[in-house]
This record gives sequence, structure tokens and C-alpha cells, in this order.
Amino acid sequence: MQRYEIALIAAMNPQRVIGADGEIPWHVKADMQHFKEMTMGHDVVMGRRTYESIRRMSRNGHVLPGRHVIILSLTLPSCMVGGETVARSVEEALEYARMPQQRLFVAGGGEIYQLFFPRATSMYLTRVETSVEGSDALTYFPEWNMNDWEEMWCKPLAQYVDEPAANVSYWRLL
Ligand SMILES: NC(=O)c1ccc[n+]([C@@H]2O[C@H](COP(=O)([O-])OP(=O)(O)OC[C@H]3O[C@@H](n4cnc5c(N)ncnc54)[C@H](OP(=O)(O)O)[C@@H]3O)[C@@H](O)[C@H]2O)c1
Repeated sequence: MQRYEIALIAAMNPQRVIGADGEIPWHVKADMQHFKEMTMGHDVVMGRRTYESIRRMSRNGHVLPGRHVIILSLTLPSCMVGGETVARSVEEALEYARMPQQRLFVAGGGEIYQLFFPRATSMYLTRVETSVEGSDALTYFPEWNMNDWEEMWCKPLAQYVDEPAANVSYWRLL
């Protein structure tokens, strides 16, 4: 029986859009803070494209300091200068994660949420109201059936100044 937590963490709009043209199509500082607080000290798995988009945004090339980053990729070299771990499959990513002591966060993007969705035990979702138009290259969070999930908590994101947003979290019903 699975005893550890595999948590999807994502921000999306009402159409479940999470990305456009390889980037996140909004800038909600309070959500970035929420992501940092939730994931600090944990293992975080992400796809190669998400990793590269975070690295582009980072000032010093460090991707998520204070967290053990596992990148899913068939093309990256296995030894990364930033100390990230590269996994070639979901199974390998789970082997590298320090479970069951830790919660494993799945931080996207679209392909990686799809891959981990069947194993996810919880979801920490930020709802933003941003409508995303004018892009052909949209990325989506997987569709889910509300009958399979129980809402744990829902709260407006404190201190937002740029976009209205709320955090909602769910446990998967057994
Ligand atoms: N709003 C949010 O919360 C949020 C969060 C994260 C990302 N995003 C957005 O999502 C978008 C990126 O998502 P994406 O779906 O295009 O890419 P992605 O999921 O970040 O990464 C896809 C890559 O993962 C690797 N991969 C996929 N399946 C694999 C497998 N079975 N085994 C090993 N490696 C595998 C491949 O890398 P290789 O090509 O190297 O093999 C593939 O190109 C961006 O727009 C990003 O900003 C949004």
C-alpha cells in the first residue's frame, strides 16, 4: 500500500491552462511565495521544459535552491552542474525521491502532470482568473473527476496585488 504523499502542485486558470509558449502566462507573486513555502526542503520533480523555463527566469542559474530537484528527461546529461538529479522514467524518479520520509511534489509541466496523475495522492492548486488568448501553444493541467477527490481547504491568496487567486487543495479519495 502506498503510504507516502505524491502531491501535484500547479497554478491554472478556469480553462485549466498552465502554460503558453513555454512559459507561465501570468505573474502572481503570492503564488510563487506559496510554491516556495510548500516545496521547501522537499523533493520536486519536473519535466525538462519546465526546468529550462525556471532556469531562464532565475538570476543566477540556480533552480529551486533548498529543494532536491529531479528532472525527467531523455536528452539531458545525467550529471548536472547544478546538482539536480536526472531521471529517465517515472519509476526512476520515484527511486531517486527520498520517500517515504518526504512528500514528493510534482511541479509540472503538462506532460509530467499527466504522467504522475494516476499516482497522485493530493493536489495543491492555485486558481487564477487570467484569460490566456493569442497563443497556439497552450499547455493544460489534466482533467479530473471531482468524485475522486475531497477538498481539504480553500483560501484566497493573501497579499496578491496583480491577480485575484486562491489556493485549493484536494486529497484523493481511496
Ligand atoms: N502553471 C503552472 O503551475 C506550471 C507549472 C509547471 C510548468 N508550467 C508550464 O508548462 C509548460 C511546460 O510543460 P510541457 O508539457 O511542455 O513540458 P514538461 O512537462 O515541463 O517537460 C516535458 C519533457 O519532459 C521529459 N519527459 C516527458 N515524459 C518523459 C518520460 N516518460 N521519461 C523521461 N522524460 C520525459 C521530456 O524531456 P526531453 O525532451 O529532454 O526528453 C519532455 O520534453 C511551460 O509553459 C511551463 O511554463 C506551468
